[in-house]
Amino acid sequence: MDGKRIVVTGVSRGLGRAMVAEFVAAGSTVAGCARNAKAIAALQNEFGTPHRFDVVDVRDNDVVAAWAAEVLAEGPVDLVVNNAALINETAPLWEVPCREFNDLIDVNVKGTANVLRHFLPDMVARQSGVVVNFSSGWGRSTSPEVAPYCATKWAVEGLTRALADELPPGVAAVPLNPGIIDTDMLRTCFGGSADGYPTAETWARRAVPFLLGLGPEDNGQALTVPGM
Ligand SMILES: NC(=O)c1ccc[n+]([C@@H]2O[C@H](COP(=O)([O-])OP(=O)(O)OC[C@H]3O[C@@H](n4cnc5c(N)ncnc54)[C@H](OP(=O)(O)O)[C@@H]3O)[C@@H](O)[C@H]2O)c1
Repeated sequence: MDGKRIVVTGVSRGLGRAMVAEFVAAGSTVAGCARNAKAIAALQNEFGTPHRFDVVDVRDNDVVAAWAAEVLAEGPVDLVVNNAALINETAPLWEVPCREFNDLIDVNVKGTANVLRHFLPDMVARQSGVVVNFSSGWGRSTSPEVAPYCATKWAVEGLTRALADELPPGVAAVPLNPGIIDTDMLRTCFGGSADGYPTAETWARRAVPFLLGLGPEDNGQALTVPGM
């Protein structure tokens, strides 16, 4: 049992939901968030305390600040996983509605920064902790019809690597490509061919031990979940 305290955003489904179960099974204490109140209540009911699940929209800096203060009041956090994200409906960039484009920037880029703004100062003060910002293959390559998503994931890579240059010894920031996994998000862009990819649960059995093994030596490394 590792006994780490872990923050995960976007836990209502997909990779976030699957990571919660694996972190808990590994003996970690999880603080998770998402917008879907029903899913959050179901998680709290399933996992109980000391785990906590809160309705938090990462776009709202004030709400993230209040959540972080409550989580940190319960004890220091060892690992922050910025997993929450949106993808656009596949379309050429010039056909993507302004509102949809803005939503991706607000969640994937600004939401990540909001979470870091409120959890990092404690890690920096203690000179201990790891933050993992979920990137994508599309944070390191491009494809047509996902330009908004590529823009945000390339931004996550740049933001994370610049942040890594700022951190004191003992603290690490890592951009992570999780691989390709059959989730709601993948179905938005791959349709039925998402069937050929691993489930989130299978993925989490590989990903969570890898995440728990990250440390200061990984600071600034653009990583991919092994075997994915
Ligand atoms: N699946 C893949 O193949 C793949 C590949 C490369 C990278 N990724 C990355 O891996 C991460 C997880 O992807 P996924 O496939 O699991 O996606 P998903 O199934 O669409 O789940 C996304 C999660 O993010 C949450 N979320 C969205 N907006 C939010 C907001 N404003 N505030 C808080 N939570 C929010 C959603 O919960 P609510 O709707 O309840 O808020 C949901 O729990 C993402 O960063 C994604 O870009 C995935």
